[in-house]
Amino acid sequence: MLNKTRIAVMVSGGGTNLQAIIDAQKNGIIKSGEIVLVVSNKKDAFALERAKNNGIKSYLMTSEEDLIATLKDERIDLVVLAGFLKILGSDFIKAFENRIINIHPSLIPSFCGKGAYGLHVHEKALEYGVKVTGATVHFVNEIPDGGRIIAQKAVEIHEGDTPETLQKRVMEQAEWILLPQAVEDISLKIAKGEL
Ligand code: GAR
Repeated sequence: MLNKTRIAVMVSGGGTNLQAIIDAQKNGIIKSGEIVLVVSNKKDAFALERAKNNGIKSYLMTSEEDLIATLKDERIDLVVLAGFLKILGSDFIKAFENRIINIHPSLIPSFCGKGAYGLHVHEKALEYGVKVTGATVHFVNEIPDGGRIIAQKAVEIHEGDTPETLQKRVMEQAEWILLPQAVEDISLKIAKGEL
């Protein structure tokens, strides 16, 4: 039996993507990895409640230096940014090179980069008038939303969509499916020593 990949999930808000990963772990979609830590940069993030309700240890981030030390102490193999809305510095990225993945709520390279997060991404898609959007899981490097793409899923935009209705559809039809599957795929590669 392979050792499970030790996962830290980083969050800033509601944590519906964290919940999707927790649920996938419970129902066996994620079997090669285990969430051992939830990290938040916001003390009132509802995602922290989700961690608590599921018996997962959590950590409130103070500085990147402390965060690196904490993740090393916990022997974290994979860092999953699941609605983590702060841009990480180069020390952190270097310390976990090829071991950080992120979910972004558009089809990269559209509507991404600095300032494109959360509802703003859907506002930009509606403003531009595209008919299809979606979600992307990618590796994190020093360019915001610029790392290698792991998986993408398209979602249709409907007449009369608001940023809120579009966000909900992108989450339900893309993010909550794509992210857990990518977490399993990458966890398996790490467990097998392929990454
Ligand atoms: C999600 O839509 C996620 O893709 C997005 O923030 C939301 C967090 O929701 N992330 C970004 O925009 C990153 N640039 P959640 O806290 O309910 O998972």
